[in-house]
Amino acid sequence: VREPDLAGRHVVVSAGGTREPLDPVRFLGNRSSGKQGYALARTAAARGARVTLVAANASMPDPAGVDVVRVGTAVELREAMLRAAADADAVVMAAAVADFRPATYATGKIKKKDDQDPAPIALVRNPDILAEISTARARSGQVVVGFAAETDDVLANGRAKLKRKGCDLLVVNEVGERKTFGSEENEAVVLGADGSETPVAHGPKEALADTVWDLVAARLE
Ligand code: C5P
Repeated sequence: VREPDLAGRHVVVSAGGTREPLDPVRFLGNRSSGKQGYALARTAAARGARVTLVAANASMPDPAGVDVVRVGTAVELREAMLRAAADADAVVMAAAVADFRPATYATGKIKKKDDQDPAPIALVRNPDILAEISTARARSGQVVVGFAAETDDVLANGRAKLKRKGCDLLVVNEVGERKTFGSEENEAVVLGADGSETPVAHGPKEALADTVWDLVAARLE
């Protein structure tokens, strides 16, 4: 059992992946299972934190002792995160957020027409929640953590992304067809805005979660 080094702290974690509806039965989504975000929520609770978990379309049961807010779209995720972040000591954005959503929502199911090519789907940009929370810093000393899934030039792309988003820590992992998504395990490098680089060996998502909380706790002191 760990020391309750996050006792008295409020931490907010997003998990899962957003779904952006096209019509009542279809959406644009991604393969995020939510397991890493849930592992972050469970480990923070075990370390004594008050935890708000904003879960986007995750199918897992609510972790014990955690406040869970369920959302569907990126816009809903943003609202829930901004509300919870207002009094948070740390915010971790582990959810996979759709960069774009369909420009329009059809209230009835979109029909195919046999004699016509399909209409292109127009997209509009979603808000970048991590960048917004990093810039706003609802509370002084608030620690903000992002995740980045990269397929190539993992460290260089991670460094650039850390700077662009303005967060304190960025957990970078390499993804591919059989890596990370839906898996029980993860392997990553945690980049710090202070230039630090913390490798996390292949292992359970809880182990990566505990490393993230170690780095967060050190920055909260
Ligand atoms: O830019 P990219 O999607 O790779 O960044 C990933 C990080 O940014 C994740 O922490 C994700 O939760 C967050 N993100 C966000 N809002 C978006 C897109 C990504 O908060 N619209």
